[in-house]
Amino acid sequence: MEKTFIMVKPDGVQRNIVGDVVTRFEKKGFQLVGAKLMHVSEDLAKEHYKEHKEKPFFGELVDFITSSPVFAMVWEGENAVTVARKMLGKTNPAEAEVGTIRGDYGLQVAKNVVHGSDSNESATREISLFFEESELVNYTKLINDWVYEG
Ligand code: GTP
Ligand code: MG
Repeated sequence: MEKTFIMVKPDGVQRNIVGDVVTRFEKKGFQLVGAKLMHVSEDLAKEHYKEHKEKPFFGELVDFITSSPVFAMVWEGENAVTVARKMLGKTNPAEAEVGTIRGDYGLQVAKNVVHGSDSNESATREISLFFEESELVNYTKLINDWVYEG
C-alpha cells in the first residue's frame, strides 16, 4: 500500500493542531505506520528542503523548521500521496480551500502548519530521512474492510 510522509510543522505543534491533523488522517481511512515528536537538526532540514536551496526563503525555511519540535508521521493508504496533498490544501493558506488543513488553520505561506510529500519518490526519500525502518509498524486493521472494496 502507498505511503506518504506528513509532518506537523513547529507552528502546528505550538498551536496544538497535532491531534486534529491525526484525527483527519484517521477519519479519512488512512492507517498510521509511524509517528514521533522530534527536533529537526539543521542538517536534516537542509537535506529535507534541498530542492529549495536556491530560493530566497531557504534560510527562513531552515530556521523555522528547526525552531521548535515537529510531529513526523508516516501514513499508508490507497493514493496516499495525492489524497494527502488534497487534504493539506494549497501551499499558501490564504489560497487554500476552507475544509483543507491549511485552509482551516493558516494565514501565511511561511506558517502553513503541515508538510506532505509531493510524489512517491519524495515520500520514499522523506520517510527514510526521518524514520529508521524499525520505527515503521506493519499491522492489519480489520476496519480496512470497511474502507476498501473487495
Ligand atoms: P511542503 O509540503 O511544506 O513541502 O509545501 P509545498 O510542497 O506545498 O510547497 P513547497 O515545497 O513549494 O514549499 C516548501 C515550503 O516552503 C512551504 O510549505 C512553505 O512553508 C515554504 N514557502 C514557500 N514559499 C515561501 C515563501 O515565499 N516564503 C517563505 N518564508 N516560505 C515559503
Ligand atoms: Mg513541497
